[in-house]
Formats: sequence, C-alpha cells, structure tokens
Amino acid sequence: MLNVALIGYGYWGKKLSRNFQNSEYSCIKSICDLKKSNINLAKKILPNIKYFNDYKSAILSKNINLVVIASPTSTHYKIAKYALDNNKNILVEKPLSMSLMEVRRLNKISKKRNKMIFVDYPFLFSGTISYIKKIIDSKKFGKILEIESFREQAPVRSDANVIWDLCTHDISILTFLLNTTPTKIKTIKKKNFRNLPVDSAYINLKYKNNLNVLIKNSWISAIKIRLIKIKFEKAMLFCDENESMYKIKIYKNKSSKVSNKYFLEVPEIDLREPLSKMVKYIHASVKNKTNNLFKNDFNEKVTNLLEKINNNND
Ligand SMILES: NC(=O)c1ccc[n+]([C@@H]2O[C@H](COP(=O)([O-])OP(=O)(O)OC[C@H]3O[C@@H](n4cnc5c(N)ncnc54)[C@H](O)[C@@H]3O)[C@@H](O)[C@H]2O)c1
Repeated sequence: MLNVALIGYGYWGKKLSRNFQNSEYSCIKSICDLKKSNINLAKKILPNIKYFNDYKSAILSKNINLVVIASPTSTHYKIAKYALDNNKNILVEKPLSMSLMEVRRLNKISKKRNKMIFVDYPFLFSGTISYIKKIIDSKKFGKILEIESFREQAPVRSDANVIWDLCTHDISILTFLLNTTPTKIKTIKKKNFRNLPVDSAYINLKYKNNLNVLIKNSWISAIKIRLIKIKFEKAMLFCDENESMYKIKIYKNKSSKVSNKYFLEVPEIDLREPLSKMVKYIHASVKNKTNNLFKNDFNEKVTNLLEKINNNND
C-alpha cells in the first residue's frame, strides 16, 4: 500500500488527492498546504487524516512511503530533495525542476538512497498516447514526416513560463513516442504581458530522417486546444484530447500518390483517467522495484531538451 503525504492542495493537488484516495493501491495519510482555505477544503473530504502547513513535518510524519509534490513549480526541487534525503519515494508534478543540474542532483540522491522518482507527465498514462505509441512502433503507416502539436489555454503562472508549464507535456510525449532527441531547435518566445513570464511560444524541432516538429504553446486563448497531428507516409493521425470519446481519428491515404483522398478510421481508445493509471503504475513500480517509464534517465532527457528550448533565441 502506498501511504501518501500530499504537499500542495491547489488545482492539481485536489485531482491527485482524489485519485490516490480512491485507489485500492494507496491511501492519503497527510496533506500539507500553506493556505488555510485549501486545508479547510481538504478537511471536508478527508476529515480523519493529518494536516500540516510545513512540508518537512508532513514528510517526516509516520509511515509515509510516497511524498506527492503538487506545490508551485519553483518549490519542487527543495521539497523533492528533502523527501529523498529522508528516504521517501517521490511523485513530483511536472516539471520536475526548471534546471537539468537539479534533476541530476535528485537522480544521484535517489540512486544513493535507493528510492524512486516519478513525475506526473499525465499523457504517458493516457489511452491516446499509449495507442499512438503502438502505431508508431508497428510502423504500419510508414515513417513519420511531420508532427504538429497545439496546446493553448491554461492557468497563467508567475513562477514558470509557458515552456516549462505546457511544453513539458509536448516534450515528455515526444521523448516517449520517438525515443530520440532533435538535432536542431528554434524557439520564438512571446511575452504579451508585463510582469508575467513568456506566455506564448512557437517551437520548431528537427530530428534525423527529416522529421520536422512544430509546437505552439500559449496560456492566452479564448478556446482550449489540445491537438496533436502526426503525418505518416500512409496516413494522417489527429489526436484531440478535448474530444470526449473519439479522441483519435486516422485518415488513411486512398492511394500511394499524393492526393487529398482518405479513408477515415476511428479507433476505440482506453478512456480511463490517466491519473488513476499512474497511481497503479507507481504502486507496481515500488512493489516490484522496477520503473520502466522513467528508466534511461527519461527525466534528464526531458529537462535537458526543455532547457535548450527555453535558452534558444533563434
Ligand atoms: N500534470 C499536469 O497536467 C498538471 C496540471 C496542472 C498543474 N500541474 C503542476 O502542479 C503544480 C501546482 O499547480 P496548481 O495549478 O495546482 O497550483 P495551485 O497554485 O492551484 O496549487 C499549489 C498549492 O500549493 C500550495 N503551496 C505553495 N507553496 C507551498 C509549500 N511550500 N508547501 C506546501 N504547500 C504549498 C499553495 O498554497 C497551493 O494551494 C505546478 O507545478 C504545475 O505545473 C500539473
């Protein structure tokens, strides 16, 4: 059983709390938040657990074997380090940290202490991305020519720009799907509001085999967009996370010649909530001492690429 101390009960912390509490594999033992109003909300749902306003006491409280960190991004590193130093497995919200050096330090401690680091990249646990991974690995539609990803509208943050906030999703998805890194990066950053970080970004990644990727991220948009388009040699795949059921549509080429005629296929997708599958995955990983999704320095690869995208000024 995962006995969880949850640090941060804001927008995303509430979703994590529900998923860990509703799972047969885990149980929330304590919640820590600096805001009294958020603690009061949590108490209405979980009246019989411990509450803290200091993360160190929450981490040190009895019988905790997983610390879940859902506080603002700029606090992740210090809380994650303290939890690992005190022999806890950790699940950290994305992004794990905004510095590759810090991610490397956390990895070192986790190896020394023999404790696991999980990061909530929720799409790694979604039915859509698992389905797309199988399609890519099977090579049934030939090689990938182009990928476009549009992620627009999200809460505006003051401690992390839109690249660390939204592009983290795109980069974790691409790293998982392609298992390789780009050879060229171009970033155009746009800051539309004074006193706020960069809120829009246009990112172009070039991979070997002439694969071109375009990412558009923006917090500011009248409508919410979560759309990935993958152009294969023999088909075009659209993945729209805003669709309730038919999230993936595959348009198969009608002929081998270049034309705009397609057959439409709408596959059945596993629609279970990704966070509930993440809880199950963490439980199995801790129990079996394996962590396949995060092996081969996955977190370092994601942070390294995000750092390069963020530092690029082409
Ligand atoms: N995986 C995802 O898809 C996803 C989605 C949304 C947010 N997030 C991530 O979750 C994190 C939190 O985002 P949010 O939207 O929930 O923010 P939020 O502001 O709604 O919640 C953060 C909470 O942490 C509390 N807090 C701040 N400092 C603290 C500290 N030192 N100790 C304990 N509690 C503290 C705040 O009082 C607040 O209640 C961010 O890193 C964000 O990137 C991830």
